[in-house]
Amino acid sequence: MRKAGQTKMNILITGGTGFIGSALCSRLVADQHNVVVLSRDPTLISRPLSGISSLSQLNENDVFDAVINLAGEPIAEKTWRTRQKQRIWNSRIDTTEAVVDYLSSLRTKPEVLISGSAVGYYGVGKDSGPIVEGAQGDNSFSSMLCRDWESKARRAESFGVRTCLLRTGIVLGKRGGALGKMLLPFKLGLGGKIGDGKHWMPWIHLNDLIDIILFCITHSRCTGPIAGSITEPIAGPINATAPNAVTNQEFTCTLGKVLNRPTFFTMPAAAIKMLMGQMGEELLLSGKQVYPEAISQAGYNFKYEHLKDALSDILEK
Ligand SMILES: NC(=O)c1ccc[n+]([C@@H]2O[C@H](COP(=O)([O-])OP(=O)(O)OC[C@H]3O[C@@H](n4cnc5c(N)ncnc54)[C@H](OP(=O)(O)O)[C@@H]3O)[C@@H](O)[C@H]2O)c1
Repeated sequence: MRKAGQTKMNILITGGTGFIGSALCSRLVADQHNVVVLSRDPTLISRPLSGISSLSQLNENDVFDAVINLAGEPIAEKTWRTRQKQRIWNSRIDTTEAVVDYLSSLRTKPEVLISGSAVGYYGVGKDSGPIVEGAQGDNSFSSMLCRDWESKARRAESFGVRTCLLRTGIVLGKRGGALGKMLLPFKLGLGGKIGDGKHWMPWIHLNDLIDIILFCITHSRCTGPIAGSITEPIAGPINATAPNAVTNQEFTCTLGKVLNRPTFFTMPAAAIKMLMGQMGEELLLSGKQVYPEAISQAGYNFKYEHLKDALSDILEK
């Protein structure tokens, strides 16, 4: 097992300029690793990171220990008209295909590919209790996208690259992400639950997500379980969510308490559907109670298990 922080690693990242990726790059650089970021605009990437705009810029001297694939058109920025759904889809699938093609061409392959996915994998249907990695998805856009995204990444397993698929919940961090969008109305006392507030919001503190990515790099046990066996490294769906998912109502109350603001308002489900259509239905009005079984069984200990602690850390410092 590779020891994080003890060995200098070479790491390739897509999406390294984003909300998660930039925090991850800062951590990797602080830990003295060499990081190459694949970006549409590498001029924005400054030393000690190296930026490239195409994988063809790499040569046989570029040998990576790990590849982390996070790139993708933002999912909740624009209404899901046909063209935007295509952009969301293509940006993930095309990048993942290019990364896996690149890996297949290498004589010296990285030990691990960590590739993005989301709790949207599990679909939008009725709440069915706690969901772990073996659960199935449905025919919603989010679920089909995550399935295809994961299956493109899993091709790397066919040539021996351990592949971890991070089914990530709502990432909570200081700058940006979903919390960044929610803060203003809540700070103004205009925050409130969405619809009946009963749908689940699996969340994770950004620091835990970064630690899970590092854990996946250093712990080769993280490749299972797909069928309940932790010792058979077949494939690696990993729920990257805190162990205590909350409902939208609980999230709303907790955020209001941490900010010391009232949360009387309710955003009616009908208004969300009218304003945001399918995007609102899938991202704001539905959610499953996702539980991080694989990573917990592999021995990862969450720093932020409870929402109040996570929000207090992010908002009170
Ligand atoms: N944040 C969350 O709560 C959350 C939850 C679940 C899953 N995820 C997934 O985790 C990944 C990273 O999330 P994030 O919040 O860090 O995303 P983000 O801030 O939107 O960053 C994603 C990165 O992807 C690249 N990108 C954006 N549009 C693209 C396009 N049309 N084609 C190719 N590349 C594009 C950009 O890098 P360049 O501009 O440098 O090319 C951008 O920095 C995403 O795939 C997201 O779906 C995030």
